[in-house]
Amino acid sequence: MFGFFARKGPHRARITTSGDTIEVGAGDNLLKAALNQGLAWPHNCRVGSCGQCRCRLVSGKIKPLNDFSYVLTGEEMDAGMILACQTSLRSDVEIEVALDKPATALSQPKSVGGVIARARPLTHDILEVRIRLDEAMPAYLAGQYAELSVPGLIEKPRSYSFASAPENEPFGHVSFFIRHVPDGEMTGWLHAANQEGQRVNVAGPYGSFWLRDSAAPMLCIAGGSGMAPIKALLEQVSSQGFQRQVTYVFGARTRDDLYCLDEMKQIKARGNGHFNFIPVLSREPDDSDWSGLRGRCTDILSPEAFDLPNSHAYLCGPPAMIDSAIECLSRAGVKSEHIFYDKFIDASHMQGGRV
Ligand SMILES: Cc1cc2nc3c(=O)[nH]c(=O)nc-3n(C[C@H](O)[C@H](O)[C@H](O)COP(=O)(O)OP(=O)(O)OC[C@H]3O[C@@H](n4cnc5c(N)ncnc54)[C@H](O)[C@@H]3O)c2cc1C
Ligand code: FES
Repeated sequence: MFGFFARKGPHRARITTSGDTIEVGAGDNLLKAALNQGLAWPHNCRVGSCGQCRCRLVSGKIKPLNDFSYVLTGEEMDAGMILACQTSLRSDVEIEVALDKPATALSQPKSVGGVIARARPLTHDILEVRIRLDEAMPAYLAGQYAELSVPGLIEKPRSYSFASAPENEPFGHVSFFIRHVPDGEMTGWLHAANQEGQRVNVAGPYGSFWLRDSAAPMLCIAGGSGMAPIKALLEQVSSQGFQRQVTYVFGARTRDDLYCLDEMKQIKARGNGHFNFIPVLSREPDDSDWSGLRGRCTDILSPEAFDLPNSHAYLCGPPAMIDSAIECLSRAGVKSEHIFYDKFIDASHMQGGRV
């Protein structure tokens, strides 16, 4: 099924599960072509690290752009599973994949120039970065992300989740919450000095982390800058009039790592008893007067406190935190198809770094 010397394309991919057919150009990977043609193909990192774009090659020849075994198990590969973001086509193919069904049609991603209009510290290591765009971006869904690059300086894009629901942004602007990663190129540049006025490129929207239509209780868990897409989702739930019970557990080390507390209060006030925000601190000094919960955010997920088997979970933040939350929720009976997540993967989680 893997073909290294076959014709380079363009080729066609027929999606057996939906009947869609897409054209995949010679220089494109399967995921990129699918997103450009408006298919809601599940994905997160787009660089071969998260496994969310996995699909099954039913027939035809492909060329792997990276080693799938970094993410897929031997069993999955024996069953014909591949990663769409790491696949180019060598012939017409048939693919089996469970496409998502967002309530609104997805926008085709596009790159737009802009200027950093605001860079405001939210905590000691998280900046709010607001960008004034030269022209409107394609409409995004709360929970999705964009890719940011700095022309002439940092050309390899980094992914950042939109920090507000689209209707809450001033016209022609987008905002992100960006945490400083030690030795990170983009975040080092952003945090080293005030970069207001600098030109940047914003490409998107990307990502499958949007709100699923449901009245099920919603449990959100985030840490660090994972606040950004969860806040956007909460703003959407709030503007829809809180038709469901929502609990948001935010994990932080100390009180200095808490932020957006006023925004959470406002959402709670609008929630009319349907919204509860629970910050949990893992390293707050014992002698501080913090009267809230302590420990890891997964420590508090007891079946007595939450209707877990009937809940939908939305998780966002560092990969290790997400993995441990998924494990904990699965053990507590949350169905895997009701766990939605975005892992904030950086170069240290990528096979061979950022290529
Ligand atoms: C879908 C998605 C959404 C995201 N949303 C957000 C968000 O809203 N907010 C946010 O703050 N972050 C977010 N991220 C993370 C973000 O995209 C960046 O990865 C992060 O900001 C780090 O970028 P950087 O350029 O500063 O660091 P990088 O230069 O990418 O480096 C990151 C770390 O990896 C190390 N490293 C570099 N190369 C290698 C190598 N070859 N091997 C091992 N280690 C290496 C570096 O020393 C550093 O410690 C998101 C990620 C994804 C995938
Ligand atoms: S989107 Fe393909 S592996 Fe993450």
